[in-house]
Amino acid sequence: TTPLRIGVAGLGTVGAGLVKLLRANESIVADRAGRPIVVTAVAARDRTRDRGIDLAGLTWHDDALALAHDPDIDVVVELIGGAEGIARRLVTAALQAGRPVVTANKALVAIHGAELAALAERAGVPLTFEAAVAGGIPAIKAVREGLAADRLVRVGGILNGTCNYIMTAMRESGRAFADVLAEAQALGYAEADPSTDVDGIDAAHKLAILAGLAFGRPVAFSSVHVEGIRAIDALDLTFARELGYRIKLLGLARRREDGIEARVHPCLVPERAPIAQVDGVFNAVVAEGAFVGRLMLEGRGAGEGPTATAVAADLIDIARGNAVPVWGRSTDGLTQVEALPRAAF
Ligand code: HSE
Repeated sequence: TTPLRIGVAGLGTVGAGLVKLLRANESIVADRAGRPIVVTAVAARDRTRDRGIDLAGLTWHDDALALAHDPDIDVVVELIGGAEGIARRLVTAALQAGRPVVTANKALVAIHGAELAALAERAGVPLTFEAAVAGGIPAIKAVREGLAADRLVRVGGILNGTCNYIMTAMRESGRAFADVLAEAQALGYAEADPSTDVDGIDAAHKLAILAGLAFGRPVAFSSVHVEGIRAIDALDLTFARELGYRIKLLGLARRREDGIEARVHPCLVPERAPIAQVDGVFNAVVAEGAFVGRLMLEGRGAGEGPTATAVAADLIDIARGNAVPVWGRSTDGLTQVEALPRAAF
């Protein structure tokens, strides 16, 4: 059988994790994909850094854009990050060249998803991004495919592992914000610029993507209300606990009569609510529909292993010819409304 040859752009936490996973689980992956999945080319800036993986024998491109036209690869995996710059150029060029793309880039999909989906459709190739939302939780598959038959009224959850990790550690040990943030960075959870995490932007990117899938139309990132966790201090967490609550940074999008509303901000949740128990780097994805009722999926939302698993799942779909169209749901004629700060959910 012909292997699926992939080119990986970006060898940070997720890229290195993907190479490790595809090697460690080689036969499981080949079995499920119906053929081997092999990394044949990589693009990263620093050739000398020790990533804990053997890169001998792989084609190394200094310019990631070269992956869009490398004749020895079938799929481009974009793990560079950022909504603009090289990541956007690479994904655009690869789709224009008729090449399937897998990306973990939530900023890119949240902001330019509609345009990229149109390119993919025109070229007749898949564009998949399971790893862009909630790391190891199969959130995209759950919302887009698992709940395809229902009319969803709500979707969202705890969508940033770094914030949840910081607030959990502050609550449990009274440690200072900066101290815990440094730890989240060392563990590979935090974004390159951690203000993306703590200001709620990363959660808002993921919410915009999920809401787009849940409601069948691209959700404009600029209309999402975003507030992060910088203003929360240890005393807030203590007071919340004394009152029987926990503070969680939630992202929630809901169907209102006049359209979709999407918002991210810290919320007080009753201690006994299932989502209040989701601590540390764990994320939770919640959804509610008329027929399915409420559901919640919990799992690791960041880090090497969980995120690599999601990227590899997309690759297996592509290897089998199973990848579904990006939005994959009728639009229902919904519009989006501007979210106002702090209205009740
Ligand atoms: N910085 C993100 C988080 C990584 O903490 O959730 C996963 O997208």
